[in-house]
Amino acid sequence: MSTPTLAPAPPAASAGTTPGDRLTIGPIRLDVPVVLAPMAGITNTAFRRLCREFGAGLYVSEMITSRALVERNESTMRLIMHHPSETPRSIQLYGVDPGTMAAAARILVEEDRTDHIDMNFGCPVPKVTKKGGGAALPWKLDLFREIVESVVDAAGDIPVTVKMRKGIDTDHLTYLEAAKAAEGAGVSAIALHARTAADFYSGHADWSAIARLKETITSIPVLGNGDIWSGEDALRMVDETGCDGVVVGRGCLGRPWLFGDLAAAFRVRAGELGAAEADALRAAPSLGDVARTLRRHTELLVEFFGDEGHACRDIRKHIAWYLKGYPAGHEVRAALSTVTSLAQMEEILATLDWNEPYPGADAEGPRGRAGSPKNPSLPDRWLESRTLESAGRVDLAAAELTHSGG
Ligand SMILES: Cc1cc2nc3c(=O)[nH]c(=O)nc-3n(C[C@H](O)[C@H](O)[C@H](O)COP(=O)(O)O)c2cc1C
Repeated sequence: MSTPTLAPAPPAASAGTTPGDRLTIGPIRLDVPVVLAPMAGITNTAFRRLCREFGAGLYVSEMITSRALVERNESTMRLIMHHPSETPRSIQLYGVDPGTMAAAARILVEEDRTDHIDMNFGCPVPKVTKKGGGAALPWKLDLFREIVESVVDAAGDIPVTVKMRKGIDTDHLTYLEAAKAAEGAGVSAIALHARTAADFYSGHADWSAIARLKETITSIPVLGNGDIWSGEDALRMVDETGCDGVVVGRGCLGRPWLFGDLAAAFRVRAGELGAAEADALRAAPSLGDVARTLRRHTELLVEFFGDEGHACRDIRKHIAWYLKGYPAGHEVRAALSTVTSLAQMEEILATLDWNEPYPGADAEGPRGRAGSPKNPSLPDRWLESRTLESAGRVDLAAAELTHSGG
């Protein structure tokens, strides 16, 4: 099986001075200011490797819960693994307890398991916010500050970043104060998913909030996140907000080659690549290319899980994303979504017309989670004060997920 050949990343080039050309996160210097967003159930080492083969930048693990890491939960220990080709390594932690978060960071650092730690303060899932975790947590600025400080301290020379949403809802925004607290605590960058928890994944990300954050935070990079579906979107976000880099999530689902387009877009912007050269590099995968990449993704998942059946079950959620816009009939899609072995996958893929050309816009644009706004669930009287100390008894431990992802 050959590796994907679409839009290979051009060789790394030298100096560039325009903001948004290079990204420095602590000691980590990235040739293009592009970060693969952590996505639970998606950004395991298999998918990160696949994306990295097309592009450049930083590729973050899915969220790892600190308690599960400290307890050395078996699937969590597998989730923090990196392939030797993955450098710099990057792991996202989630937790609500400063001590447990610090202990988790110490494991990562002392056992040399990562080069970067990101912290997740953006989870909008009701069962998490209802207990004061996820996007609800930065409202309690004292707890937020304590968690960030303890992780920065435990991480030593390893750079720590935070990823957050705008806040709980439009009346309870937290991002500017939380970002200032994180900057003060010594983080190396701040990423903003420009939605509130109440927005969930609905509507459009509010890029103006990224611009405000960039005006507010001046000593470290600000990364913008939300609704980047193409290289053009990424440049537009940088131009409109002044952010130092972009974090890309759903846009690459079923399209790992998007990282090639993103790298090319930023290299054109930095003057390292001509627009015509970039156009020639732009990914336009035929159905055969998609089939090859789908198969390679599955093979990488087999390596990751060490179990072909498990890998085949896991790849099923990616099928509709890979085939979006391509002429692949209902029967093929249905067969792939129950696939149980690589051999069976080969047989099904062989029934497709591999010469079908790239369908263009139909294969691009929004994909993945969307949905409608939700009233965030919060602990009783959570919004009455900005400090945990004055919040009375809150069972925060219940906001600590026992398993990673989700
Ligand atoms: C399936 C899925 C899983 C996610 N898991 C995480 C996660 O583990 N940690 C995190 O910080 N954000 C997570 N997110 C949010 C994304 O990192 C990102 O902030 C969000 O999708 C907005 O960016 P996008 O518009 O580029 O997708 C997840 C999003 C999706 C769609």
